Amino acid sequence: MSASARPVSLGPLQLAHPLVLAAGPLSGDAASIRAAFDAGFAAVVTRTVSRHPHSGSSQVISQQAETMTYRGRWVSPRVTPWLRSLAPLQERPGPLLISIGPTIEDVIAVAEEAAEFGCDALELVSETPDDLVAMVQEARRRVDLPLFAKLGGHWAHWSAVAGRCLHAGATGITVTDAIPQGADSYQAGAALKPVALAAVASIARAHQAPIIGVGGVASAQDVIDLLQAGASAVGLCTAPLLHGLGVVQAILAELAQRSGARV
Ligand SMILES: Cc1cc2nc3c(=O)[nH]c(=O)nc-3n(C[C@H](O)[C@H](O)[C@H](O)COP(=O)(O)O)c2cc1C
Repeated sequence: MSASARPVSLGPLQLAHPLVLAAGPLSGDAASIRAAFDAGFAAVVTRTVSRHPHSGSSQVISQQAETMTYRGRWVSPRVTPWLRSLAPLQERPGPLLISIGPTIEDVIAVAEEAAEFGCDALELVSETPDDLVAMVQEARRRVDLPLFAKLGGHWAHWSAVAGRCLHAGATGITVTDAIPQGADSYQAGAALKPVALAAVASIARAHQAPIIGVGGVASAQDVIDLLQAGASAVGLCTAPLLHGLGVVQAILAELAQRSGARV
């Protein structure tokens, strides 16, 4: 196995390898999350849960090569029944991170119940740095779980925002979220890779915290690039959406194949 496919530590979380299913449509319910673990993802971040009546499903608006633009982000199930529906995942082969956003009210509504359910960490996501920092503070007051703060790739001063989140009690940083393209539309996939690389490198230079690098990862080389930039683990959303969950095994096989080259 190449260095890149070995077990990694994500702060207090132990992963069998660095590939994580990032928050999105493939992790909205227990069956999908189980399918992602079965496909080989080392950890899964749920689709973002919100108490507000945001849109319930994402629609792809356009796709060009490996980049997609989509509309609709937060899912707002009734929180308690949704968490109860995750009961089959009490037994799971790797860490499960529950994503909450985009406001402090969502943290208040979901964080403690998510901790009682027994997830391994929370990932907090928002539209602005100030809201994100406030969410981290609120979550840290409420739960004793590892907290990952997810930054937008279009935000200025990544390392300063990461520092504020860490100071507020975050355990680690996830970067990048999808990037807004006008009203309620977001871009994800290959176009984000340079942004993710720059953001991870800037945060890793300034802070010791674990980083989940996300954005345009579709190959072993993408994984290696993000790990070399300073990520501890690597999240994928668009690649498994476009090509299926089998992309994990393909990337792990490619990493293993390259082990002789000491990648
Ligand atoms: C259709 C779709 C839905 C998404 N939904 C969420 C979400 O609910 N919460 C979140 O934090 N990120 C969400 N994302 C962003 C991804 O988790 C990821 O940060 C972003 O797409 C960059 O990774 P990628 O290039 O591998 O897609 C979504 C992305 C896509 C494409």
